[in-house]
Amino acid sequence: MAKAPVRVAVTGAAGQIGYALVFRIAAGEMLGKDQPVILQMLELPMEKAQAALKGVMMELDDCAFPTLAGMVGTDDPKVAFKDADYALLVGAKPRGPGMERKDLLMENAKIFIEQGKALNDVASRNVKVLVVGNPANTNAYIAMKSAPSLPSKNFTAMLRLDHNRAVSQLATRTGKAVTDIEKMIVWGNHSPTMYPDVRFCTVAGTAAPAAIGDEAWYRNEYIPTVGKRGAAIIAARGASSAASAANAAIDHMRDWALGTKGKWVTMGVPSDGSYGIPKDIIYGVPVTTEAGEYKRVEGLAIDDYSRTMMDKTLAELQEEQAGVASLLG
Ligand code: NAD
Ligand code: LMR
Repeated sequence: MAKAPVRVAVTGAAGQIGYALVFRIAAGEMLGKDQPVILQMLELPMEKAQAALKGVMMELDDCAFPTLAGMVGTDDPKVAFKDADYALLVGAKPRGPGMERKDLLMENAKIFIEQGKALNDVASRNVKVLVVGNPANTNAYIAMKSAPSLPSKNFTAMLRLDHNRAVSQLATRTGKAVTDIEKMIVWGNHSPTMYPDVRFCTVAGTAAPAAIGDEAWYRNEYIPTVGKRGAAIIAARGASSAASAANAAIDHMRDWALGTKGKWVTMGVPSDGSYGIPKDIIYGVPVTTEAGEYKRVEGLAIDDYSRTMMDKTLAELQEEQAGVASLLG
């Protein structure tokens, strides 16, 4: 029997990432070719943004996707999030050259307060929320705190782009395929303080530190290259990453919904207090997923170097959180 459609809300649907994202969701690349979706797309009320959204919807029509069961375009978060089963919060300002993502905090925070409240009021009680808009971890925290009737665990931030970058850079270094790499972790904030930890990682069955064979390269080149990749893309393209960000959003939601079959992936999730990360901080951790639920990989040993790196990215998140405390009341 055919599956009933699910509702997928996407904010900023006519932006760079939105344009690389909604067609793939509509084509069944996120939730499966057997899962019909109703796209509920939000854009700013300005004429230009609404006209661009209309154009996106015209193109979606023109694709005649078998899995696209309906669509809504709106400037009202309560319409976009009505009964949403999945919500991808992309719409926010991107940074430009010379900025850090946290420089966007005050400007973008308002968006996530409003959208958290709207999700709280009208979304499915099981809505799975992915925050992409930067600074993603703290925006996810803001949305979560603005939606007290929804389970906190349903609010996540995108660390998957960082995870994918970490895998790809390691594959290049070792001359192996990305599919040879398992158990990658990127701890912490989606910012240059993130900590790509390869201690448990294997490359075609060999422990990654041995496959790399040069700890100085790992610490002094690999970690900063992964951490500063967003800025490198901005410098090269003159605009922030879009297709790779959309791809990571698809990976994150697909794995959350459909399961990783034991594979580790990184998600930014509200802390349960483990690994010395205070409760509720949205922090990148390794997870596996099954039956629509993520589960932290537990009990990993944290050595001194890792503790220092994990505390550094934590301190930045706590600073961001303190910066928005007054907005959250
Ligand atoms: P963009 O400017 O091309 O598009 C953003 C879109 O969102 C625009 O169309 C804008 O009209 C819309 N928008 C703005 N405020 C909105 C609101 N309140 N409600 C609905 N729509 C709204 O930007 P982009 O390149 O698509 O990037 C979007 C965000 O994603 C930025 O904050 C960027 O920094 C972030 N980003 C995050 C990651 C990550 O890994 N977490 C990766 C890439 C980009
Ligand atoms: C990225 O990592 O590519 C995005 O967060 C965009 C940015 O500002 O770096």
